[in-house]
Amino acid sequence: MASEPYAYFNGDFVPLSEAKVSVMTNAFNYGTGCFEGIRGNWNAKEEQLYIFRLKEHYQRLLRSCNILKIKLPHSADEMCEITTELVKRNGYREDMYIRPLAYKAGTVVGVKLHGVEDGFTIFTVPFGNYLDSSNGIRCGTVGWRRVDDCAIPARAKVTGIYINSALAKTDAQENGYDEAIMLTNAGHVSEGSGENIFVVIDGTLVTPAASESILIGITRTTVIELARKELDIPVVERQVAKSELYTAEEVFMTGTAAHLTPVLEVDHRKVGSGAIGPVTRKLMDLYSAAIKGDNKKYLEWCTPVYAGK
Ligand SMILES: Cc1ncc(COP(=O)(O)O)c(C=O)c1O
Repeated sequence: MASEPYAYFNGDFVPLSEAKVSVMTNAFNYGTGCFEGIRGNWNAKEEQLYIFRLKEHYQRLLRSCNILKIKLPHSADEMCEITTELVKRNGYREDMYIRPLAYKAGTVVGVKLHGVEDGFTIFTVPFGNYLDSSNGIRCGTVGWRRVDDCAIPARAKVTGIYINSALAKTDAQENGYDEAIMLTNAGHVSEGSGENIFVVIDGTLVTPAASESILIGITRTTVIELARKELDIPVVERQVAKSELYTAEEVFMTGTAAHLTPVLEVDHRKVGSGAIGPVTRKLMDLYSAAIKGDNKKYLEWCTPVYAGK
């Protein structure tokens, strides 16, 4: 890895320590930014770093930007090229994380979206496990409700909305759980602080629909496709009751940071037998092969960073 990593900032590759914003920045004051979380996964056998579903992340960033009235200076394809170049310059030979941020960069005091200058930056960090995705976690539903689409749209990955996630995560962890599960205002299951949720009921994979104030996760989309194509099991997107978390055969969370993380307990109730279930296990294996470029069928999802050997 390079001694000091580069960041992409204001149209240039600069040392990370030079990528700085003013305390007057609109996004710092009001949470008016949107971002992505993208993983680069190290394949030691091939000595290759594969960035997973890079273009889909930038397509989602463009949708978030449209909601926040942020005009990006680049197309999705250009951002993919810039990102690959940045990661290559930083020389990672390990799992890592890419954080592009599009934000209201203006420094005039006043809260609004229109007529405020925009900025765009990307930084990268080494990144291992976020949750215990190998062994599973314990979750708790929390009192904080997922922000409603009419308040801050969860489908936009907006910086300010993460107050909602941070309140939920801290509540869950201070009460002894590993991760929070947030409910909608109507009391249905929405999502984790940084993950989507799936439950297995009578062999069917069920996940809260897009209408349940969720971020439409790229891992969620990937898992739905893998389940349908590789396991031939039905997938249903619908409202999920909180009590279904207690009666499901299996529960797991999905996210770029979290991968597929089995949930072994919810609100002090064992999920199924309390061990990782067969559907979760199969999907974990399929997903981990896909993100590392080990399943050649899904290589189109992987952007190699380095020239092949
Ligand atoms: C609130 C929230 N839900 C779900 C996800 C999962 O989305 P993805 O699979 O695109 O990483 C994330 C992570 O980005 C998140 O922050």
